[in-house]
Amino acid sequence: MLTHTLHLLTRAQRDGYGVLACNVIGLDHAEAIVQGAEAERAPVILQVSQNAIRYRLGRLEPLVTACRELALAAAVPVALHLDHATTREICERAVAAGMSSVMFDASSDDDAVNIARTGETARWAHDRRIAIEGEIGVVGGKGGPVTTVEEMTDPDAAARYVAATGVDLLAIAVGTEHGMARKTRIDLERIAAIRAAVAVPLVLHGSSGVPDADLREAVRLGIAKVNMATQLNAAFTAAIRDHLVADPHVTDPRRYGAPAREAMAAVVQDKCRLVGASGRA
Ligand code: G3H
Ligand code: ZN
Repeated sequence: MLTHTLHLLTRAQRDGYGVLACNVIGLDHAEAIVQGAEAERAPVILQVSQNAIRYRLGRLEPLVTACRELALAAAVPVALHLDHATTREICERAVAAGMSSVMFDASSDDDAVNIARTGETARWAHDRRIAIEGEIGVVGGKGGPVTTVEEMTDPDAAARYVAATGVDLLAIAVGTEHGMARKTRIDLERIAAIRAAVAVPLVLHGSSGVPDADLREAVRLGIAKVNMATQLNAAFTAAIRDHLVADPHVTDPRRYGAPAREAMAAVVQDKCRLVGASGRA
């Protein structure tokens, strides 16, 4: 069933578990994520990033419409979220296509500009009953330098940011990096301190590189939305690679697409259990 993102995350925060927000690049991804969540009776968020839309030749609507249809037909609550958007225009298109939340990512601006731009987008979003995720701090990745302590989210600055912008969800920098570039050392004490300082659900980006025990602990300490992409893609691609090596003459994409989808669904199941989402649908 199609559900509002904030409804899923408010419940998760209240009851102390995490909800996976899995990145969708194509229909196979969306099917695998919903299949994995259904097998676990877990709520889940399908999120599409601005970069994924660029890959889809700039067309947001076909992919989001497919996600929406899958969500409507799903046996578990599924929410639709726009990930890492940097312009209002793409937020407007996402909302028109049926998404109930957007991440407006102005984290590369300095804090004052980030607050001004995110606050303005939050007012626009709230007029439409859309939830907005903002980010303060630097989540590294893509082989760049490791996030320094100064670049991590400061709890007091986080509280000021939430009050000044009105964001409904807060993405925090606690040492994670996008893309599993290297093993991540996550600052768990910082999560607890931010949790104590702000009331809105917290979001962890770059969850793929976080060891399982740390991810479980991060959720226990207050992370509600667990963004995961690279681990799903790794399983998907490995299954295709294995199939192509075993059967180099294959031509039908369904032959390697089906095992890839199964492999991705299995990771979704595994991670739903890890964050405590299983059985919460
Ligand atoms: O916004 C998406 C995520 O932060 C995914 O990060 O690919 O490291 O899991 P990941
Ligand atoms: Zn991210």
